[in-house]
Amino acid sequence: MLLIVWSAILTFSVLRPALGAVYTNPFQLPSSNKYDYVIIGAGIGGSVISSRLSEDPCKRVLVIEAGPSDVGIEAVQIPFYCVSLSPNTPLDWNYTTVAQVGLNGRTVPYPRGRLVGGSSSINYMFWNTGTVDDFNRLADVIGDPSWNWEHVHPLIKKIEKLTPPADHHNTTGQINPSIHGKSGPVGISLQGFPTLLDDRVMRTTSLLSSEFPFNRDMNSGNPIGIGWSQFSVANGTRVSAGTAYLEPALASRSNIDLLVNTQVTKIFQTGTQGKRPIFRGVQFAASASGPFYAVNATHEIILSAGAVSTPQLLQLSGIGDPTVLRKVGIEPLVKLPDATQQWETTRTGQLASPPAAQIGWFRLPDNSSIFKTETDPSAGPTSPHYEFVFAIVSSRATGHYMVIATNLISPSSRGSVTLNSSDPFDFPIIDPAFPQHGFGYFRNHGGTSPWQGFVSGQFGNFANVTTDEQIAAYARNNAATVFHPVGTAFMSAAGAKNGVVNPDLTVKSTVGLRVVDASIFPYIPSMHPQGSVYIIAERAAAIIRNT
Ligand SMILES: Cc1cc2nc3c(=O)[nH]c(=O)nc-3n(C[C@H](O)[C@H](O)[C@H](O)COP(=O)(O)OP(=O)(O)OC[C@H]3O[C@@H](n4cnc5c(N)ncnc54)[C@H](O)[C@@H]3O)c2cc1C
Ligand SMILES: *[C@@H]1O[C@H](CO)[C@@H](O)[C@H](O)[C@H]1NC(C)=O
Ligand SMILES: *[C@@H]1O[C@H](CO)[C@@H](O)[C@H](O)[C@H]1NC(C)=O
Ligand SMILES: *[C@@H]1O[C@H](CO)[C@@H](O)[C@H](O)[C@H]1NC(C)=O
Ligand SMILES: *[C@@H]1O[C@H](CO)[C@@H](O)[C@H](O)[C@H]1NC(C)=O
Ligand SMILES: *[C@@H]1O[C@H](CO)[C@@H](O)[C@H](O)[C@H]1NC(C)=O
Ligand SMILES: *[C@@H]1O[C@H](CO)[C@@H](O)[C@H](O)[C@H]1NC(C)=O
Ligand SMILES: *[C@@H]1O[C@H](CO)[C@@H](O)[C@H](O)[C@H]1NC(C)=O
Repeated sequence: MLLIVWSAILTFSVLRPALGAVYTNPFQLPSSNKYDYVIIGAGIGGSVISSRLSEDPCKRVLVIEAGPSDVGIEAVQIPFYCVSLSPNTPLDWNYTTVAQVGLNGRTVPYPRGRLVGGSSSINYMFWNTGTVDDFNRLADVIGDPSWNWEHVHPLIKKIEKLTPPADHHNTTGQINPSIHGKSGPVGISLQGFPTLLDDRVMRTTSLLSSEFPFNRDMNSGNPIGIGWSQFSVANGTRVSAGTAYLEPALASRSNIDLLVNTQVTKIFQTGTQGKRPIFRGVQFAASASGPFYAVNATHEIILSAGAVSTPQLLQLSGIGDPTVLRKVGIEPLVKLPDATQQWETTRTGQLASPPAAQIGWFRLPDNSSIFKTETDPSAGPTSPHYEFVFAIVSSRATGHYMVIATNLISPSSRGSVTLNSSDPFDFPIIDPAFPQHGFGYFRNHGGTSPWQGFVSGQFGNFANVTTDEQIAAYARNNAATVFHPVGTAFMSAAGAKNGVVNPDLTVKSTVGLRVVDASIFPYIPSMHPQGSVYIIAERAAAIIRNT
């Protein structure tokens, strides 16, 4: 079992020398400082945007982050320790869902990173860049082809830097280098140590090639099949949005400042333009007891607080469903029903294990009986319905066991994030609406010859699970989230009645306010989403710089 002494780690973390200022308490921020852009949250969206906007030396940028700096925290840097970083640690917001009907009334932890780099500093580093159909559906539903795969995906070459795996093994045949970036800020690599599963998983792909086909590179836009995992890891070290974007910008530029340990509590109106309210004021505090401070942006506020905090802050600022807002005593300023009501649910599945060398992406056959009663929730033939993550878990108490974590990635249910009170330090009500029906039946990959003599038996309660009903019951009792909420402030066509942001990511019916984070996806990306969040953030930076 991993034992990490958090107080020691946090006390000894040091800040690197930087040209941009790093303030660790809001009272340090000089009230005379003027900023063109104030960015809320230093996660993927916030780090990418602040780095790109500060490339213009004439623009001054302030980033406000609720959590601490990530610099010098070894458990964050060492990839294998990722599972120890959440839930319920000093680097987590410690959210839980409300009781889930689909999970027999259980509540489940809902981790979100609370430090520089955001969830990219505590995530499991699986690196996926989305599917053709996911991006094309996004462009279709918002009626803007400039968001389709062909236009948006090339940004990945600006983001990635393909690096050798930690063990420098020969990766020929395990990845297609020509589709990857070679000089971007985000170092990526294949798994850097051999595991007992590698050969067996790969032999199964040739023995059962129609069921489990080999896919040389799952980041080509079509991930279907089994392939080698890619990670946001370089030189054996985690790469986060903090290490890749924000910290290099702070180190080399004097027009970007970072304020950590400071929670934004509200965005406030600073005027009106025509009939639309201008939101260029930001209120913040180090703790619930205050004191409360404020700063105004001369250009824009960019809300990048992630899929839980972004809708929470919009609602705290009077932007949302008037009925919900009035219930907690907040005067509605901008009526956006969907700011609270609709969002895409997360992946569910047995809790994922440490990073694993192979992933498989699959679709249910078109003639599956479930499609007699349900419409296909996926974006199209390149978008999988479910995922296998192959891993070995070892523990002194129980010995070695192999896990094929099964993740549902094209869910049809939507949940919500709503305020419980007008106190910004209170947790919002998180209801992912985990599936209430339609648990699938997944075939037994482990029954084939490469596994003979390797798998000695099934583990724990799963041993007794055979019928469809038992599988559904097992899932209800054991499923948890695999941490990918999106869509809580989703994008829709410019004139649409639903949705929260326009195709240029401005918040509807407002001036001076944009959202740039995972909240904006109208549908959940059908692969691990961090690569897609980097992509939308790079695109947002280009949009903002052109205005
Ligand atoms: C445990 C875990 C494992 C994951 N594993 C993977 C994986 O292997 N692969 C993958 O692709 N994705 C993974 N993800 C998901 C991925 O990391 C997220 O989708 C991605 O980081 C979302 O980016 P974001 O910019 O929307 O938000 P985040 O990266 O979460 O950033 C939001 C930032 O805003 C800050 N913030 C929030 N509220 C406030 C406020 N009021 N004031 C100031 N700051 C605020 C937060 O502290 C945080 O730093 C995982 C996530 C978790 C939690
Ligand atoms: C989350 O829980 C940990 C462990 O109890 C605690 O140290 C940390 O302060 C909590 N985080 C927040 C934001 O409350
Ligand atoms: C890597 O393996 C491929 C195919 O097996 C081989 O052609 C190539 O020469 C190897 N590269 C190195 C650097 O050994
Ligand atoms: C790789 O990591 C080691 C140990 O932290 C460091 O000394 C070295 O400079 C790093 N190399 C690169 C290329 O970043
Ligand atoms: C921000 O703008 C508002 C409205 O114009 C103004 O009242 C307030 O003083 C400004 N605050 C700061 C910190 O400049
Ligand atoms: C679906 O089609 C396959 C191949 O044609 C067939 O073997 C299978 O029995 C069908 N399944 C159902 C549920 O009809
Ligand atoms: C909402 O507030 C009530 C009353 O204070 C509290 O009992 C409940 O636990 C809160 N719910 C959440 C999800 O925090
Ligand atoms: C499986 O079911 C049998 C019979 O009900 C029971 O005795 C056994 O303990 C169960 N095994 C596990 C691992 O739950």
